[in-house]
Amino acid sequence: MSSLLISGGTIIRVNGEEKADILIQNGDISLVDSEGSADQTIDASGLLIFPGLIDCHVHFREPGLTHKATMKSEARAARAGGVTTVCEMPNTSPPTFTAGALADKVRLAQEVTDCDIRFFMGAVAREHLAQLRTVWASLLPEMQRLKARCCGLKLFLENSTGDLKTDQDLVEEAFRLCAEIDCPIVAHCEDPVLNASANAAISDQDIATHSLRRPPESEAASIEHATTLARRYGTRLHIAHLSAALGLEVVRRAKEEGLAVTCEVTPHHLLLDTSRYEDLGVFAKMNPPLRSSEDSAALWQGIADGVIDCIATDHAPHLKEEKEAGSPLSAPSGVPGVETMLPLLLTVAATGKLSYSDIVRLCFDNPNTIYSLGKEHIADGADADILIVDPKEEWEIHAVSLHSLCGWTPFEGAKVRGRVKYVLRKVGGYAVDTQGLTNRASRGVV
Ligand code: DOR
Ligand code: ZN
Repeated sequence: MSSLLISGGTIIRVNGEEKADILIQNGDISLVDSEGSADQTIDASGLLIFPGLIDCHVHFREPGLTHKATMKSEARAARAGGVTTVCEMPNTSPPTFTAGALADKVRLAQEVTDCDIRFFMGAVAREHLAQLRTVWASLLPEMQRLKARCCGLKLFLENSTGDLKTDQDLVEEAFRLCAEIDCPIVAHCEDPVLNASANAAISDQDIATHSLRRPPESEAASIEHATTLARRYGTRLHIAHLSAALGLEVVRRAKEEGLAVTCEVTPHHLLLDTSRYEDLGVFAKMNPPLRSSEDSAALWQGIADGVIDCIATDHAPHLKEEKEAGSPLSAPSGVPGVETMLPLLLTVAATGKLSYSDIVRLCFDNPNTIYSLGKEHIADGADADILIVDPKEEWEIHAVSLHSLCGWTPFEGAKVRGRVKYVLRKVGGYAVDTQGLTNRASRGVV
């Protein structure tokens, strides 16, 4: 087996930067500080080296919705964007409600080498909780194998794509069970009653009213409810795609109280706001919806304060034709994002608003800890995914050169600074993509 030296790069860690060469030999990583030599060398001078990022909230649509996306297509998009581990949501067809449905997804994911795909289970009926208990608490080797691929339980407290809203009684039962078996819950927090009354009060059919129909008060009330249950039962609770200042304050208070509550925000809620309905129309429709620029600013402050634990994309591909069919307000909700997250964050980092270490904390360390994913940092002997990034390269995001099957992005035309150059994953040895990640035939295997 040949060897590879990554020389002259700067490794980004959660607590700072480290200049070191990385030698990959016999499938093993070692950090070396002297001039070494190897069969192949990547000159990484001026480049940054990150651990392969974790996106802890994606929808890859398989099985059942493969006209929108497949595990293979979206894993490829993820890898091209520097994301090598994802946590996938249960609103597929069939939904991931049973050990059998989870096993099917795990089997499909075995064919995918671009990305490590982990799965959430979902529950809308009592028997689904029994299935979760079996996966999570059974000592059967088959169940333990599935548990190792399962990140926890996803609860929709309001309907969204797939209509998987869980009824109140069962939500409470889920919090009780998950505390008992120590399984994390990730919750989509919006209050169906508040959404329904906001919706009923609006007759204007403009797409921008989507944000008024699902208001920040609804999200905040739902987070309040979820944190109350987390307090009552001692459940580990992660708030998905927090979108507004009101909800952020609820999370802040829950953390101050010492509850095991964490949260994530999306790049679209950080970087887009309600003014963008004007140019994006239905392509700015997602749940929870876009908010005001003041809300986005509050989310950035939440990142600076450390109240926000993760950035995750809620990558939710729908076809252009699906978005454009029918009336705007009936368009399916969701935007793709897994491939554009890192370039967008690197662009923010270039302004000084975020550090490279923040990116590692928000998109590697914290999701890794929250969901016990067991991913490894770049270190001697580690089984680490390695990402090599040029922080200075300037380019424009265009959907034609992205990999998601959906073929569009809400960030079309955005000028970004920072580009993924190489992604190395250890799948039976380290494989190096060199041709802008698209030309797989040119991939040299080390
Ligand atoms: O915008 C969204 N899209 N929000 C969700 O909750 C689901 C997602 C999807 O699956 O399309
Ligand atoms: Zn989602």
